[in-house]
Amino acid sequence: MKRRILVIDDDASLRRVLEYNLQEEGYEVLTCASGEDGLRLSDEYRPELVITDVKMPGMDGFQILQAVKERAPDTLVIIITAFGAIDAAVQAMKLGAYDYVTKPFNRDELKLTVKKALHVRGLSEENRRLKEELTDRVEFRNIIGVSQAMEQVFAVVRKVADTEATVLITGESGTGKELVARAIHAMSSRRNAPFVPVNCSAIPRDLLESELFGHVKGAFTGAVRDNPGKFRRADGGTIFLDEVGELPLELQPKLLRAVQERTVESLGGKAPDKLDVRVVAATNADLEKSISEGGFREDLYYRLAVIPVHLPSLRERPEDIPLLVRHFVAKRECDAVVFADDAVEAMKRYAWPGNVRELENTVERLLIMRETDTIGIADLPEKVRNSGGGKPGSVISLPAEGYSLEQLEREIVVEALKRNNWNQTSAARFLRIPRHVLIYRMEKYGIVIPGRQKDEG
Ligand SMILES: Nc1ncnc2c1ncn2[C@@H]1O[C@H](COP(=O)(O)OP(=O)(O)OP(=O)(O)O)[C@@H](O)[C@H]1O
Ligand SMILES: [Mg+2]
Repeated sequence: MKRRILVIDDDASLRRVLEYNLQEEGYEVLTCASGEDGLRLSDEYRPELVITDVKMPGMDGFQILQAVKERAPDTLVIIITAFGAIDAAVQAMKLGAYDYVTKPFNRDELKLTVKKALHVRGLSEENRRLKEELTDRVEFRNIIGVSQAMEQVFAVVRKVADTEATVLITGESGTGKELVARAIHAMSSRRNAPFVPVNCSAIPRDLLESELFGHVKGAFTGAVRDNPGKFRRADGGTIFLDEVGELPLELQPKLLRAVQERTVESLGGKAPDKLDVRVVAATNADLEKSISEGGFREDLYYRLAVIPVHLPSLRERPEDIPLLVRHFVAKRECDAVVFADDAVEAMKRYAWPGNVRELENTVERLLIMRETDTIGIADLPEKVRNSGGGKPGSVISLPAEGYSLEQLEREIVVEALKRNNWNQTSAARFLRIPRHVLIYRMEKYGIVIPGRQKDEG
């Protein structure tokens, strides 16, 4: 791809000279006569380098420099100053210009300055890419778990990461859904393109459509400039639709189209854009229940849940706790700290309603408050220390008004499948029934594995 340079100068003949010389070097060159036009072009075309004259009617070169740096800090700026105007040159460098050239300029010197600037930019990009790749890999190693349930999650993640398949991550709050979404992106060949998270429940309803799909200037009151939207920002990369269960019903058809056809249409825009975006979604809501209550479209659900990944709650995998505790201690560089056995045992008995996030916060607090390097049971928060132990009398609690046994059985079967990532063999083992009995129950209750058509069996 050609490297892009934007030239801003009110002197038409100088613009032509610059354009000619830079094009000769193989760059793509855009020119304009004012700072106002320059900023618009810079927003639109994202040049790597801006070359601007200092003295111009309207915005001067310093103002342009500052505005460009504010909007796109990575863009390099070279200032053209009059010969001998050293003060202006010094001022420009102070404000963040990469370099300056004096006019009338020597062509070779100009070309060399530009070449050097773009080389520097290339280096810093390469550097950032390498650094990102490294943190990405670390990210996957940072998902801790030795339980069978987590091993299953890892196996699915490894298998699907470098595919185009849409993934739906479910699990209670704090179980690591975002961590897994990032790992999927990091392990895909999209890792150098953006990972764009969108929290569907945090963005006000009436803004969500334009946040996701973008709008053109003037599409509604207050739309003072174009907004490409999150989907376009994720082009080439991954969009992470967090809390997707909170997506308002009226936006669901539009999302369905985006996921299905990989096209998005801006508010007030003309033709839809074709994009290359991988979709990963997450929810801690029971989407099947929302579907039956009319709050979530079934067709969208099946589109999103091509590959379902369920993260087990921490109370279902207490065997992961010792390792997680050690991981969080190491993360805070407190390697001398030891958790006594009785403390770890109590932590394994506690139910952790906030899951791994709650465990991490608890460990962090203990590390800050500790007086010695050994943390015993007495140091734990009371609720953790006194967490019953022993087996609970029953795993279910029935509503006072009664409950249908069939409904209960259906829920148990669905839950067992989800916990086992819809693997029928594991789910059957979990329920301690033969596999054909499980399949019979699934047929009886019309339970379908997400991503499979109903008639496939
Ligand atoms: N298996 C794990 N290993 C290490 N750290 C974890 C693990 N799971 C979660 N964490 C940590 O716990 C915290 C919560 O994780 P994350 O934000 O991914 O959860 P979530 O499922 O998206 O929660 P919510 O539904 O509340 O948004 C993060 O700090 C994350 O790094
Ligand atoms: Mg989250």
